[in-house]
Amino acid sequence: MKKNSYNFDYYKKNFPEAYFVSKNQMPNEFNKLINEKNLFIELGVGTGKNINNFIKAGWKGNIVGFDLWKRYKKPENIKGVTFIEGDVRNTFSYYIKNINKIDLLYIDLDSDVESSIYCLNCCKNLIKNSYVYIDEFYGFHNWSKNEAFYFSKWLANTQYSFDLVFYTEFGAAFKLNGLKKPEYLFYTLIDKLTEKELNGTDN
Ligand SMILES: C[S@@+](CC[C@H](N)C(=O)[O-])C[C@H]1O[C@@H](n2cnc3c(N)ncnc32)[C@H](O)[C@@H]1O
Repeated sequence: MKKNSYNFDYYKKNFPEAYFVSKNQMPNEFNKLINEKNLFIELGVGTGKNINNFIKAGWKGNIVGFDLWKRYKKPENIKGVTFIEGDVRNTFSYYIKNINKIDLLYIDLDSDVESSIYCLNCCKNLIKNSYVYIDEFYGFHNWSKNEAFYFSKWLANTQYSFDLVFYTEFGAAFKLNGLKKPEYLFYTLIDKLTEKELNGTDN
């Protein structure tokens, strides 16, 4: 904990409204913050430890987890959870076609930040007034150059205003609010440029 304390100073300075929650208390905190618990999506399930923590904390809504399950074995003993196997770049946009809203999007795809941003772009209309938790944000190794840099850029460019609500040892929980106005069109344009940059294509 001590070695990351400098990052806590960073939060205190830049996001004075945000508060610290230890990672093991994080599912409880989301339970308190989110009234309508319809859908929790986890990108990067691994062994399912985090999903189990949400179930133990009493998350009542649907849970859908995505993973490649190459490094870890797909969990077999978690009931009532939909697991979708494969690269999120092939599975996620297809799955969300029939979804109206994601209440909590939990992002933990190792250092695959491009896929994380791809998913955020795919579901940006479904996460308005919802929470996004980024498991490796400020505090993670070399954060200013890696994950946090790209996620911050996405957050700054998105059409929604956002609050950084709380932070854990490595992660950060954001609440996406209403549309930024009147800059909406500007941010939509920036979004498109970001997509182009990430995909390396004009399409
Ligand atoms: C750190 S683990 C997740 C741990 C889990 N969230 C927990 O806290 O218990 C990261 C997972 O992301 C998955 N992953 C990374 N890139 C992916 C991709 N493009 N598509 C699907 N899964 C991916 C890996 O297979 C790995 O299991």
